[in-house]
Amino acid sequence: MGFAGLNPSYIKYEMTQATDPLAPIVAAVERGGFAFVRGPEMHAALEQAGFADWEGFAASWDDLGVDMYMADGGRYRRRHFACFRADPEGVFRKPHQPHYQSRDYNPLNGGVERWFEPVTDGAATHPALLAILATCHRLFDGLTPAATRPTSWHVEIHQFRIETLSGQDGKPTPEGMHRDGVDWVLVLLVSRVNIASGETTIGDLGMRPLGSFTLTDPLDSAVTDDNRVFHGVTPVTPLDPARPGHRDVLVVTFRRE
Ligand SMILES: [Fe+2]
Repeated sequence: MGFAGLNPSYIKYEMTQATDPLAPIVAAVERGGFAFVRGPEMHAALEQAGFADWEGFAASWDDLGVDMYMADGGRYRRRHFACFRADPEGVFRKPHQPHYQSRDYNPLNGGVERWFEPVTDGAATHPALLAILATCHRLFDGLTPAATRPTSWHVEIHQFRIETLSGQDGKPTPEGMHRDGVDWVLVLLVSRVNIASGETTIGDLGMRPLGSFTLTDPLDSAVTDDNRVFHGVTPVTPLDPARPGHRDVLVVTFRRE
């Protein structure tokens, strides 16, 4: 005879909550449209997906090409770009293609197809990236109601370096508070060298502030529901203006194919 009132599916749900490192991230995003995830929590989730050789992956930020499409004339942003498909078989790279954002989403740099240098084969097949993509796939599938969950996602990744050169500030999001025009966004900090500030701010669809935080340590991450919230990052300033500095991030977006 069972215990009256104990629903077996409820017990199973509690077990998952207690053991799955993604559960608190899902809960935060469902509640408020975003989550600020500290590095150790993200690391625990990634480890389950075969995460390895973080230093080797992070080193691939050292040879990114300059982004020549900055409408403000800035040459302070470097990036590599790649597209993938995530479906029940796994995550697969697509042929290189331009990145397109409409001007609705990016009044500064949108409205044109932008061809960025591709992510190198070494970085695209690196176990750290594969673990990040597999974890995003599981996280974003889990956040999407079954009724509207696509079989296949269009995934874009951007390796970004924002530089502070000769004392000049660098702007991580020169277009200001924005949405990426996708369904889900992960921004994961790779490194910060000789920079201060670079605060991430989150706003609702009326641009009212919902929260702010700073990604300071490797794997510190922001997860946003791009249909519900805006995001932006304040300029980064050099700690020591006599030396160059940079902020490196990986951005991963998922949208319905
Ligand atoms: Fe963005």
